[in-house]
Amino acid sequence: RLKKKEINILCIGLDNSGKTTIINRLKPEKAQAQDIVPTVGFTVEKFMSQSLNFTVFDMSGQGRYRNLWEHYYKTAQAVIFVLDSSDRLRIVVAKEERGLPVLFFANKMDCKDSLSAVECTKKMGLDTIRDKPWHICASNALTGEGLPEGVAWLTGQLN
Ligand code: GTP
Ligand code: MG
Repeated sequence: RLKKKEINILCIGLDNSGKTTIINRLKPEKAQAQDIVPTVGFTVEKFMSQSLNFTVFDMSGQGRYRNLWEHYYKTAQAVIFVLDSSDRLRIVVAKEERGLPVLFFANKMDCKDSLSAVECTKKMGLDTIRDKPWHICASNALTGEGLPEGVAWLTGQLN
């Protein structure tokens, strides 16, 4: 039996962007939580793709916990950065030093005023990122739309 490769992922983004909802959706159905509450500090979650076992550090996006993000870069092999594409006021640039692959979810694509993935790319200045592989997917964490595409990209980067 081939053992799957173990991958640590850091999941970050502002509070209320949908990080925990996305990670919850990626877990096996039986393991999914029904109610999702704002994350305190961080939680550790697991899910797998065809060839990889993912351990995700699902960080709180609240200001008072954001200093924790830095600490967990050390053990991460890739980053999931969740944007609330309907929150026009709080789209910010992801500042990150190491050259880890970054998957952006332009989440809440179902909201009426949400920005497209292309618009998020422009606002975030993502097209100037040259020092690491990155990819952006529009997603709806409530239905799971867009999530498989993102995980497939991550899996391809990390194999
Ligand atoms: P913190 O843990 O505080 O950093 O927040 P978070 O990024 O983990 O957000 P969370 O997953 O708790 O979701 C915040 C709210 O957004 C919840 O009410 C979710 O149901 C809602 N939400 C998440 N994803 C989507 C989406 O794609 N569409 C819509 N309409 N709502 C979403
Ligand atoms: Mg959360």
